[in-house]
Formats: sequence, C-alpha cells, structure tokens
Amino acid sequence: MRLLVTGGAGYVGSVCARVLADRGHQITVIDNLTTGNREAVGADIEFIEGDVSAVAPAVLAGADFDGVLHFAAKSLVGESVTDPHQYWQGNVVESLALLDAMRATDTRRLVFSSTAATYGEPEQVPIVESAPTAPTNPYGASKLAIDHAITSYCAAYDFAATSLRYFNVAGAYGSVGENRVVETHLIPLVLQVALGHRDDIKIFGTDYPTADGTAVRDYIHVHDLAEAHALALEHSTPGRHDIYNLGSGAGFSVREVITTCREVTGLQIPAEEAPRRAGDPAVLIASSERAISELGWRPAKTDLSVIVSDAWDFTSKLGDRAHSAQR
Ligand code: UFG
Repeated sequence: MRLLVTGGAGYVGSVCARVLADRGHQITVIDNLTTGNREAVGADIEFIEGDVSAVAPAVLAGADFDGVLHFAAKSLVGESVTDPHQYWQGNVVESLALLDAMRATDTRRLVFSSTAATYGEPEQVPIVESAPTAPTNPYGASKLAIDHAITSYCAAYDFAATSLRYFNVAGAYGSVGENRVVETHLIPLVLQVALGHRDDIKIFGTDYPTADGTAVRDYIHVHDLAEAHALALEHSTPGRHDIYNLGSGAGFSVREVITTCREVTGLQIPAEEAPRRAGDPAVLIASSERAISELGWRPAKTDLSVIVSDAWDFTSKLGDRAHSAQR
C-alpha cells in the first residue's frame, strides 16, 4: 500500500514506518521535527518536513494514497496539564485538518494513535475498550476528542478507521528508540541515570493505593505495537471505527521498573522519593483481548526485562555516540 505516516520521525511513528517499509509498503513521512529526529527516517522513506495541517492536504492531493497512520501529536501527560493550549491545538486542530484533507482526497483508511489516557482513573483493571472514558488530563481529553470525531467521520463519510489505545510504550527496534531532547518518560530516564547522565531518578508519588505506593503501568514493546498497526491497517472496514487497547496485560510499579533496570544494567541507579506528578492515574493496565482475538495480534516481547534490555541496548549506544560527539 502507499501510506502517509504523520509523526514518522518520532519514537513510535519511526518504528512503525520502518516495520511497514520492511513489509513492502511505500511510505511518505510528514514530521515537523519538534520532537522527532530526521535520522530516525530511513533513506528508503520519503520525508517531508512540516506541520500536518500545512503539508498533508497537498501531499494527499499529489498522489493516490491507500491510507494514513496518524502519529503526529503532543503526548506528555504532565506538560498537557501545565500548557493545555499545545494539546488542543497540536492534537485536535491538527488532526481535524488531517481528517478533512483525507475526506477531500477520498483517502478513508486511517490508523490513529489513541491512548490509555482516554480512560482516566479506571473503575476496573485490566481496562477493556467498553470502559468509561473520563480523562484526568488534557492530553487524554484531546485524544478522546479526536476519537469521537473519527467515529462520526466513519459513520457519515465512510472512513475505515482504527484507533489503537497505547499503554506505556518502551523498548527499541534496531537503531530506532526513545531519543528526545526533553525526556520525561520513566524507562529512558532511569537508563540515563544508569549511564551517569543524571544523578538520580525521582519517584513521583509513593502514596498511591498500590502494593508499594507507587503508580502502576502496563509496558508494551514498541515492536509489538508496530505489528498491531500493520494488522489494523489490513483489518480496517469502511463505515467502522474499531478501537483496540494495546498493552502487555501486566502492571509494574515505578519501584519495580527501577529494580528491573538495576537488574538489566547491573548498575546502582539511585532513586529519590518525590511528590505525585499532576494528572497521573494510579494504575493503568490493558486488556488486549480484543486486539488478540479480532486482529490476530500476538505480542512477542511482553517480559519487562526484555523491554528494558532492548531500551538499554539503544540508550547505552546513544550515550556512547553523544559522548564521543562531545569529545
Ligand atoms: N515517573 C516517575 N519518575 C519520572 C518519570 C515518570 O516516577 O521521572 C512515573 C510517572 O509518574 C508515572 C510512571 O512513572 O506514574 C510512568 O510515567 P511516564 O511518563 O513514563 O508515562 P505516562 O504513564 O505518564 O504516560 C505514558 C505515555 C502516554 C500514555 C500513557 C498511557 O506518555 O502517552 O503512558 O499509560 F497515555
């Protein structure tokens, strides 16, 4: 298929673009490079720099695309609480422009990066797709708004769309991994402490109603996530908006993640307790049963130590490269 990948220079988008290109699809990436890396886009992939709303209408009009994978977004829970404008503008306004460019060019197949943050504080775990959606932060609210827009575009304009609700994505694939200028995610930060690039890891909140008092998340390997996108693309049906949760089905507390990182790296990794971070739910664990039964998704790297090992492989090489570049 000929596919447009927005945000294809970012972490998840670049891994998905790589996996889809390796499967023989013809990929065009749009990315404004505010958080993405140009080097994460392979030489065999067409790259266009710019905002989705500025670039997508002409790109879609200029060739016959079979579908769009929409990753481009602002995606930090904490930042969305302190600067919500970026989330309503960057996620809702930009995504609507994309949907309308798709409509104008009769490009109706869509895979959208939705998020576990649409559910908010769950009433029950594991979280199923029929669970109530009550986001606890503007990030989740902005993604939910687009999910609603997509549902109505499927019903009214015959879009064939799938929203994939990611839980906590981690790990790396080949030479592509988490490499942000400003990093806020737990696993890459813990590994930066292991490398000596930071003094310690702050544990945000130790008074959650969990076994050890720290927040629990479901970590999914980025390659398993990419495989789900390829399946979702094949599965899309005109007039339908399917929603799938994607996680590994097991929860790990912040303390357990730090312990696993110590085991994998064999290094000390100092940690310090700190107050809760605004907008964080206590526990997020996915039920991925629907993706497994309907898409035939078979996550292969569900073990947290395998996810951390792959992330460590990537981060330690990145650390070496950054170090030699400084010398
Ligand atoms: N955390 C710390 N210290 C840190 C960084 C994070 O204790 O230095 C904690 C957070 O408070 C949270 C957990 O580690 O409890 C995971 O935090 P991340 O920032 O790694 O990830 P989030 O759970 O905030 O969010 C991620 C994605 C979202 C997605 C969500 C779904 O960034 O896009 O997972 O579970 F919606």
